[in-house]
Amino acid sequence: MCGIVGCILKEKKDVAPILFECIKNLEYRGYDSIGLATYDNAIHVKKGKGDIRKVDREQNFSNMKGFYGIAHTRWASTGKPTHENAHPHLDDSNTVAVVHNGTLENYLEIREDLIEEGHEFISTTDTEVIPHLIKKFMDEGLDLEGAVRKCTKKLEGSYAIVAMSKDEPNKLVATRKDSPLIVAFGKDGYFVASDTPAVLDYAREVIRPKEGEIAILTKDGIEIHDKNGKKVRKTPQHIDWSPEMAKKEGFDHFMIKEITEQSLAVKHTLGQKANIKRIIKEIGDVKRICFVACGTSYHASITGKYLIESLAGIACDVVIASESKYTARTWDEDTLVIFISQSGETFDSLMALKEANKTSNTLAIVNVAGSAMTEEAKYFIQTQAGPEIGVAATKTYIAQLTAIYLFAGLMAGNDKIIEELSRVPKYIDEVMKEKDKIKEISKRYDFAENAFYLGRGFSYPIALEGALKLKEITYIHAEGYAAGELKHGPLALIDEKVPVIVIIPPGDDYKKTMVNLEEVKARGAIILTVCAKGDKKAADNSIDVIEINSEVTDIIAPLVYAVPLQLISYYVTCDKGYDPDKPRNLAKVITV
Ligand code: F6R
Repeated sequence: MCGIVGCILKEKKDVAPILFECIKNLEYRGYDSIGLATYDNAIHVKKGKGDIRKVDREQNFSNMKGFYGIAHTRWASTGKPTHENAHPHLDDSNTVAVVHNGTLENYLEIREDLIEEGHEFISTTDTEVIPHLIKKFMDEGLDLEGAVRKCTKKLEGSYAIVAMSKDEPNKLVATRKDSPLIVAFGKDGYFVASDTPAVLDYAREVIRPKEGEIAILTKDGIEIHDKNGKKVRKTPQHIDWSPEMAKKEGFDHFMIKEITEQSLAVKHTLGQKANIKRIIKEIGDVKRICFVACGTSYHASITGKYLIESLAGIACDVVIASESKYTARTWDEDTLVIFISQSGETFDSLMALKEANKTSNTLAIVNVAGSAMTEEAKYFIQTQAGPEIGVAATKTYIAQLTAIYLFAGLMAGNDKIIEELSRVPKYIDEVMKEKDKIKEISKRYDFAENAFYLGRGFSYPIALEGALKLKEITYIHAEGYAAGELKHGPLALIDEKVPVIVIIPPGDDYKKTMVNLEEVKARGAIILTVCAKGDKKAADNSIDVIEINSEVTDIIAPLVYAVPLQLISYYVTCDKGYDPDKPRNLAKVITV
């Protein structure tokens, strides 16, 4: 996903090395090209396709002069990943430079109009219309701020933009709609970025401009103006994530570091109990709940549905954000719509949240404070996982589950579940002690081309999440199935070359899942079972077994049984020589 940074220093030192460091901190969002623009009597642009360090070797960014500038990592959406399409983009007189995150829906019409007026375009991006429009409006007599404002009135779609102009030097102007953007106050200068980790090394006092507001950065400070150009007063929020928290701390990959941090993520999120209690009280009576999310967060939501229906007896739906438009028509004032998101920026979830706000009470369970969904939702719970850099969600998933269990348990007045939750960190740590054994087991699965994950009841979403983790980082085709669905189709695919991972904790569904395990065994499948310690029957019917503390009931299983599945995916990925932190074609934050 695109990342943008802008910086203006208080003193006239070269800003390029700082911009380069900041943009490197956004690598985790995924990118295909990068670029910088600085101002020193003229606007200088250097950019290229590929890895940040490779482009730096080719371009030598540190040679760039000027005390302010902008930078960008691009994740192609409109126009292929090429040198020409990399940002920053300029107008055809090199007067205005722009970096942009988001997608413009009407850029083709704007581009045609501009071409008719004599503008020339170099790239095939949607972004390039922006510097052309800004230049045009400045030529008509507007200052940079006015030209940016007028330009955004023409744009349909989503954007976070930072612009600079040689006709109005020593200034950066930024604005946003449906794309994230923060401004930050540092000791040596002022920053604008698409995400806080970009600037953590330099600035910790952060403001998130609202949609339509314009941020103006000069060497003397940052001003935020509303739609009418009136100055708005805002108090910066202090971000206490240390830069070290965003580094690997000796682990080979962020993913394994983040898996290891899961028991802490649970402990910290349990600290939200009082806050969640207060929110439940404020929300009051709820007749119906609907969860909305994408990917891993969707799997956490399915667990939420099962919990709320079984513990609180409240009717509960769960819907994928990009498929929510029909369900959205049924939301009303008695519905609580709960949005689950690691980033708080996922475009489809954010759009559904805006829709839900029109009819219903909304609650966002999000990991990133100050993200768009935290501002949009009527209520907000922050999961306490800390920054997650690996693209595959691990600790944020477990933290989401923790918040959901707290919410459902407190809503239902079920003290037993709350008490069980407090033991989850211990159960997770026990699994982590077995990680060398799990690593050995994983070595026997890297040959696979297809794999199936089976679970029933609370173990069904664990199966879905196990399969997603495997496919997204190992590139092995994997399917998660409700074990009872097996005979309705997928059983035809099972043979002696197919690993089947069976999640079978003790509890109501145990016997039925055992029947499914025997069914796949009869077809010769290579069975890996995740079951309770001492479950002899499961062990006898499997090739490999991972044992979990037998106190872990089926209800609490998603928080613990998911962990060995994450480890298997991680170790298989390492065995295959892939990078688990940066799976191909995927990005951490999906803002388009
Ligand atoms: C998978 C993964 C994704 C995200 C999905 C939603 O490991 O991370 O499937 O869960 O893109 O993102 P958020 O939770 O940020 O809304």
